[in-house]
Amino acid sequence: MCGIVGFVGKQACTSILVNALRKLEYRGYDSAGIAIFEGERIKTVKAQGKISEGLEAKLKTEPIFHATCGIGHTRWATHGEPSDVNSHPIGNGRVSIVHNGIIENYREIKAFLTSKGYGFESETDTETVAKLLDYYYEGDPMEAIEKALEDIQGAYALGIIFREHKNKIYAVRKDSPLIVGKGDGESYIASDVTAILEHTREYYCLERGEIAVLDERGIHFTDMHGEPIEKELQTATWDVESAQKGGYEHFMLKEIHEQPEAVKNTLSPRVKDGLPDFSECGLTAEKLREYKHIFIVGCGSAMHSGMVGKYLIEDLARTPVIVDIASEFRYRNPLVSSGDLVVIVSQSGETADTLEALKLSKAKGADTLAVVNVVGSSIAREADMVIYTNAGPEISVCSTKAYAVQVAFMYLLAFEVAYSRGKIDEEECKRLTAGLLAVPEKIQMCLDDMSGYQFVASKIFNADSLLYIGRGLDNALSMEGSLKLKEISYIHSEAYAAGELKHGTISLIEDGTPVIVAATQSALFEKTLSNVRSVKSRGAKVVMICRESEAIDANCADYKVGLPDAEDLFLPLISVVAMQLIAYYTAVQRGCDVDKPRNLAKSVTVE
Ligand code: M6R
Repeated sequence: MCGIVGFVGKQACTSILVNALRKLEYRGYDSAGIAIFEGERIKTVKAQGKISEGLEAKLKTEPIFHATCGIGHTRWATHGEPSDVNSHPIGNGRVSIVHNGIIENYREIKAFLTSKGYGFESETDTETVAKLLDYYYEGDPMEAIEKALEDIQGAYALGIIFREHKNKIYAVRKDSPLIVGKGDGESYIASDVTAILEHTREYYCLERGEIAVLDERGIHFTDMHGEPIEKELQTATWDVESAQKGGYEHFMLKEIHEQPEAVKNTLSPRVKDGLPDFSECGLTAEKLREYKHIFIVGCGSAMHSGMVGKYLIEDLARTPVIVDIASEFRYRNPLVSSGDLVVIVSQSGETADTLEALKLSKAKGADTLAVVNVVGSSIAREADMVIYTNAGPEISVCSTKAYAVQVAFMYLLAFEVAYSRGKIDEEECKRLTAGLLAVPEKIQMCLDDMSGYQFVASKIFNADSLLYIGRGLDNALSMEGSLKLKEISYIHSEAYAAGELKHGTISLIEDGTPVIVAATQSALFEKTLSNVRSVKSRGAKVVMICRESEAIDANCADYKVGLPDAEDLFLPLISVVAMQLIAYYTAVQRGCDVDKPRNLAKSVTVE
């Protein structure tokens, strides 16, 4: 998704802006650009393609003066193809802007401005905002911004500069995130804090309806009518190191290895006297006992963590759980009402569909609990209750540690719902919680030797298509395994309930089709094996992910990925590591851009 940066201070800003944009590359983009104050004019340099090949290459050929203020952008095309002209910053020499989000009524604005004599060069919705600001500008930037924002509908975060107001940046947002960084004699704007961590850890979260004005003297916040407002300074706990690769070849590999620590960081603050405790956010046992329905809503991996949550809560607490994809939930008039709990899961806390699902749930009167990783994100701010998953920054587009910590939270939630509803007693709840706290060690054991995953990857990396199968919790897990593989290796894959294969999908099996089988649930093991035999007899190449101690007949599985011994209930949180690493090494062997897969963005802030 697009990324915004801006800098004002005493240092030369070009390399600061470009470096900050590099930090946002993980969000996904197809072009990048900067606009800086140069003498009496605004100079813009922008190019389609990777920063190193496009923008930086262009900058080398341009004479750049010592500018100390500018804005920058990485664009992920929505309106208009990726091209130099559609890249941001966009403006007309008098006003220049960078924009994240979507302007829904841009056609109407364009028609209006055209009738006033404005011409348009790009196909973007953003250009209509730049020209609208220019239209309203009569010397006072605040007045122009206020009037323009009254006209525009949609989601936006904007960084704006006016030629006549040298070395000043104006920032404003609605629904798309924007932070304002406070350095020593310099200030920043950025889509997220990772962009500016090497300069400062102190920042403000810009809220809807607030304008930040940044100049050499500092940062000034006002409401839309120019009334000054006081804001609370935040301190990022993430450090520069945690947002860098730290010797790993890819962020994804680093983040996979961070999972034992991340899971500990999610769990330990929520366990008191050996029992789950969510009092930090007001989610009491009384509330959990009373909720009529529990919904879990998210997108992609976040939704998959909800699938695991459903199996766990329904099994342990005997309480029905509805899991939904946010983009479906928000448009299907869901049966949510007062007395229900809606758990909203999101790593970024900015996913547009998930945010809208949250707003809808609130509007229908439900209690909302956000399970998010990014502190101060839109979803965290909007929800009634928040649990931060404490995974640290996840840079790779492909979610690994963020998924693991979401799942870890689902376990604790299931234990607490079951305990509060009297389905398990205190002793059992403590036993389960202690078992969960021991999971990070088992995850670590899966990370100690990569050779098994590399070997499996070497056997499947040439496949055109493959299947993931499992039953029960393994079925929920397979969905995540399949998503990992297709997302980064571009091999088509599908996750299927093992017992459902014979109702159609088994016809896809031909000689050599890889089938990855998750078989961690003892009660279902024999059933799964019979499904394995039926695919094997049709030519499938079978990879079994099961306990190391499980004796597998060579006629049944071609390769085994052994897991450390653990209670059935906990094995999905352990075996997902194997799924992630198989996907990772397969993508590496295929030469794919693991951290930045094609067509994908880390944070999907548009519908
Ligand atoms: O930031 P979110 O957790 O809301 O993101 C949701 C999905 O976009 C995300 O999990 C996506 O599916 C990942 N790329 C999967 O690896």
